[in-house]
Amino acid sequence: MCGIVGYIGNAQAYPILINGLKRLEYRGYDSAGVAMLEDHQIKVVKQVGKISALEQALDPEEMRGTLGIAHTRWATHGEPTQTNAHPHTDCQGNIVLVHNGIIENYQALRQMLEEKGHQFRTETDTEIIAHLIEELHQNGTSFEEAFRGALLQVEGTYGIAVITLHEPDKLYAARKGSPLVVGIGNGEYFLASDAAAIIAHTRDVFYLEDGEIAIISREGFVTKTIENEIIDKKIERITFDLERIEKAGYPHFMLKEIYEQPRTVADCMRGRLLKDEGVTRLGGLTPILHNVMRARKIFITACGTSYHAGLIGEYMIEEYCRVPVEVEYASEFRYRDPIIQDDNLVIVISQSGETADTLAALREAKRKGATVMGIVNVVGSTIARETHGGVYIHAGPEIGVASTKAFTSQVTALALLTVMLARAKTMSAEEGRQIVHELEQLPDKVARALESDTIVKQIAEEFKDNRNFLYLGRGYNYPVALEGALKLKEISYIHAEGYPAAEMKHGPIALIDDDMPVVFIATRDSTYDKIVSNIQEVKARRGKVIAVVSEGDHELDSLVDYTIPVPSTVNFLQPIITIIPLQLLAYHIAVLRGCDVDQPRNLAKSVTVE
Ligand code: AGP
Repeated sequence: MCGIVGYIGNAQAYPILINGLKRLEYRGYDSAGVAMLEDHQIKVVKQVGKISALEQALDPEEMRGTLGIAHTRWATHGEPTQTNAHPHTDCQGNIVLVHNGIIENYQALRQMLEEKGHQFRTETDTEIIAHLIEELHQNGTSFEEAFRGALLQVEGTYGIAVITLHEPDKLYAARKGSPLVVGIGNGEYFLASDAAAIIAHTRDVFYLEDGEIAIISREGFVTKTIENEIIDKKIERITFDLERIEKAGYPHFMLKEIYEQPRTVADCMRGRLLKDEGVTRLGGLTPILHNVMRARKIFITACGTSYHAGLIGEYMIEEYCRVPVEVEYASEFRYRDPIIQDDNLVIVISQSGETADTLAALREAKRKGATVMGIVNVVGSTIARETHGGVYIHAGPEIGVASTKAFTSQVTALALLTVMLARAKTMSAEEGRQIVHELEQLPDKVARALESDTIVKQIAEEFKDNRNFLYLGRGYNYPVALEGALKLKEISYIHAEGYPAAEMKHGPIALIDDDMPVVFIATRDSTYDKIVSNIQEVKARRGKVIAVVSEGDHELDSLVDYTIPVPSTVNFLQPIITIIPLQLLAYHIAVLRGCDVDQPRNLAKSVTVE
C-alpha cells in the first residue's frame, strides 16, 4: 500500500521525509512526491517512478522548511503518472495532502464539487478530499472543522496527512482503515504509515485508531475523534528492529500477506457491492460492458496461481451464467492458434500484470478479434494497459514470491464478475441479495480460517520431512487442491501434486502408502459423500490423510489423521476460505525446512521472460 511520512519540528524536514520514504520502498510503489511549507509557501514536487527519480526532479536546496509531508503511491484509482502522484491540492494550492486507502464515494463527491466550481487535475480518488476541505472551509468554518467535516462525508478507507497555508504551523492527520503512527521527538513530531519510516529518529510513538485525528504543532499535539471528542493516546516504545517492522512484526512477507487477506478480500469488494439491488458494480468494465454481458463464450488464460483462480472462475461462470468457459495456460493458449470468435470474451488474470506468456496470450486474443478484459493487481501494468477493460483486485503490493493474497482477491473479483453477469441473465434480485450478503461475510470468515494456524503448525511438524504430497478435491475445491500443491512445492521444494479426487483411481492411487500424506479438501457440498469414499480408499492403503473440513463437521474425525475446520459459505466462494490452511501448511513446512520462504530458489515474482 502507499507510504506516508510527515514531519514538524525545528530541523530541516526534507531529508527526514525522503529518507523516511526510502524506508518504505519495500512496500512497492509506482510514484513519489513531497510537499514543504516554509515562509507561507508550499512547494510540491512529485515524480512517477522511484524515489531516486523524485530526487533527480528537485533541488534539495530549494526544499527548505521544517514542516512537510511525503508519499509513495501504489496506484489504485488512476494510472501511475506524475499528475496522479501525491501530494494533491485544492484549487488554490492552500491545502496539500497525501492519502493511503480507497475512497468509495469519490465519483459522487467529485461531481458535487465540480458543480460547485472546483477544478480537478487528476484521476485519483484522493484529490476530492483536498477540494472537500476547501469547500467546507470557504464557508467560514475553521480549518479543523472543515477537515473533520470533509472526512465525515468520505466513505471508504484513509490514512491522510495534511499541511495548509490556513494553519502554517500545524500538521493534520486522520485514520480510517489505513494505519498511521505518530513519533514523538524533542520539540519535533513525526508521522508515518509505518514505523519503519521514523524509528531512526524516535521509538516513542502512538498509533491512531480508526475514526481518530491528530493535530500536531511544534509545541505538542491534540488527538480527537472525528466527532470532535478529545482523547488521550498511550505513548508506546517500539522495540522491533527495522526488518521486523517492515514485515509488520511477521517473520516473512508471505505470512504477513496471508494474514492480510481479511482486509485485501474486503478491499477487493470495496465500493463494488450493491446489497439492496443484490448486484455487483465493476467500473473498470464500463468501456466493454456490452461485449462482456453478451459474450457467447469466455476464455480465461493465465499462469500459475492465477491460472488456478481462473479454473474457479470457470466453475462459477458456467454454474451461474450458463456461458461456456474454457481455461488454458497462457503459454499454451498463445501458441495453439485458439479458435476465437468476435463475440468471445478473453479474461487474462495476472497479479504482476507483466507475465510474458499472459501478455502474449492477451495480444493473440486481441489479434483474433476478442474483447479482452484483465483481472490484475498492479495498476498501470502492461497487461492492465493493453486490455480493453478490467478489474483491479486492490490487494496491495505482494512481496512474497508465492502468491497468496492475490489469489483470494482474484477469486473474489471473479465472484463479483459472476454475480454481475448472472444478474443480467437469470439470477433473481433475491438470490443476488443472498450472495452479496455472503460476500460481505467473507472477510470475517477468512479471518476465522486463519485461526487454524495452530493446528496447521502441528501438522507441519509431523510431515515436514515427507518427500511427496498429494492434494485432492472435487468441484470448486479441485483448483484449490492444485493451488495448495503449488504453494507447497514452490516454497518447500517437496514434490506435491493436485488432482481431482475421483482421478486418484486412474493412476495416483498407486502412489499411496504410509509415506505419502494426502490432503483432502472435504468441506460439506454436493461432492462430500464421494470425497469420503476417496478418503476411505486412501486409508485402506495406509495413507495419511489431512482433511480440510467444514467447521462443526466431525464425521471424518475418526477416519482421518488430521482435520482442519474452516467456516462454510456458498460453494462458489468456499475456495477463498479452504485455501487459507493450505497456504499456512506450505508456509510452516517451508520454514521448518529452513527454506527461503519469501524468495524461493529458481523463482521470480514476475516471470517476464518466456
Ligand atoms: C504463484 O505462487 C507463483 N509465484 C506463480 O505461479 C505466479 O502465480 C505466476 O507466475 C503468474 O504470475 P502473475 O499472476 O503475476 O501473472
